[in-house]
Amino acid sequence: MTRVTELDTPAVTVRLDIVERNIRRVHDHLARLGIANRPHVKTHKIPALGRMQMAAGAVGITCQKLGEVEVFTDAGVADDVLLTFNVIGRAKVERLVALTRRLRRLAVVFDNDVVARAISEGARAGGVEVPFLVECDTGFGRNGVQTPEAALELARTAMRLPGLRFEGLMTFPNREPGTRAFLERALELFKRDGTAVPVVSGGGTPAIFTAQSIPQLTEHRAGTYIYNDRMVVASGTATWDDCAMRVRCTVVSRPTADRAILDAGSKVFTSDLYTVTGYGHVLEYPEATVVTLSEEHGVVELSACRARPQIGDVVEVVPNHCCVVSNMVDEVYGVRDGTVEAVWPVAARGEVR
Ligand SMILES: Cc1ncc(COP(=O)(O)O)c(C=O)c1O
Repeated sequence: MTRVTELDTPAVTVRLDIVERNIRRVHDHLARLGIANRPHVKTHKIPALGRMQMAAGAVGITCQKLGEVEVFTDAGVADDVLLTFNVIGRAKVERLVALTRRLRRLAVVFDNDVVARAISEGARAGGVEVPFLVECDTGFGRNGVQTPEAALELARTAMRLPGLRFEGLMTFPNREPGTRAFLERALELFKRDGTAVPVVSGGGTPAIFTAQSIPQLTEHRAGTYIYNDRMVVASGTATWDDCAMRVRCTVVSRPTADRAILDAGSKVFTSDLYTVTGYGHVLEYPEATVVTLSEEHGVVELSACRARPQIGDVVEVVPNHCCVVSNMVDEVYGVRDGTVEAVWPVAARGEVR
C-alpha cells in the first residue's frame, strides 16, 4: 500500500474519513428536515463518490452538463438524475433524448421557451417524455426567470408542448435573501392556477444548514460539501477539519526569507477567487498566504509565520474552490490514516458539453 508521503507532487488528495463524515452529516441534516438529498456530482466527477452519496440515502444525483450525465449513467451510479443547465442545440437534444431512454428519470431545468420548444421537438420525435423544472432567479443574478409570474407563464407554455411534463421549480443558491418570498409567491400563483408543484429544488453548500428557513423546499442539491474548501470555510458552513481535499505540494524554492514557491499554480488550483482573497490555505502554516499563482508556481508569503518550510518540504493546501480543482487533474487519491486507499480517475473531467 502506498503511503501518502510517497505520492509525487502536486497530488490532489482527499481524506476519506472526512468525505464519509461530510456525506453523512449533510444527508442526516436534510433527512431530519424531510428534504430529499440530491448531491451535485460536478464537484468530484468521480462515480465511486456518487455511489457513496447514493448509498447514504440520496434520492438521485444532480449534473451540470450532459457529459456528466453520460459518464455517471455509463457507471450506473443513479437512475434518477436532474440536469441543471439549459440544453441548447440539436446535438445536445439528441443526447438528452438518448439518455432519457437509459434512466428511470432524467429531469431538466430551463428558464426560457426556446429551450422548452427544442426539447419538446426532440422528445416528440424520439417518443419520450422529459420532466422539467422551471429555473427561477431568486437573487443570484444568473439563469432563471425573473419573477414568480414569469415562472408560471413559462411553465404553462411548456406544459402545452408535447413531450414535456412539468414537475416544479428550481433555484440556486437558496441562501439569497429573496428566495423564500419568491417561492411563496410562485407557489401561491401555481395553486391559484390549479397546477401542482411536486418539486421545489434548492441548492448550494452554504445554504444546507439554513435550508429549514425555506419551508417550500422539497429537495436540496449540494456539491461542494463532500470535500469543502476555503470558500465554504469563509461562509461559516465548515471548518478546516471538514475540508477533505488537500493538494500536496512541494516547496521548490525559498528565494527570500519571507517567500516560498510551491510546485502547483493555476494549472492545479485555477485562478478562482470567487469570494476570498489569496489562493489557498496551507494547513501546516496557517499564517501563510498564497498570494499569487503562475501556471506552475504558487507564491507563498511567509512574513506572518513563526515556523517556515524548507526547500523539499511537502505541504497540504486547501484550495479556494474544490470543484474546479477536480477538473484540473487526471486522478484523485483517497487517503485514510496516511495510506492511499483509492486512486480514482476523474471520470467526468473535462465534460463541459
Ligand atoms: C445549479 C446548481 N445547483 C447546485 C450547486 C451546488 O452548489 P455547491 O457546490 O455550493 O454545493 C451548484 C453549484 O455550482 C449549481 O450551479
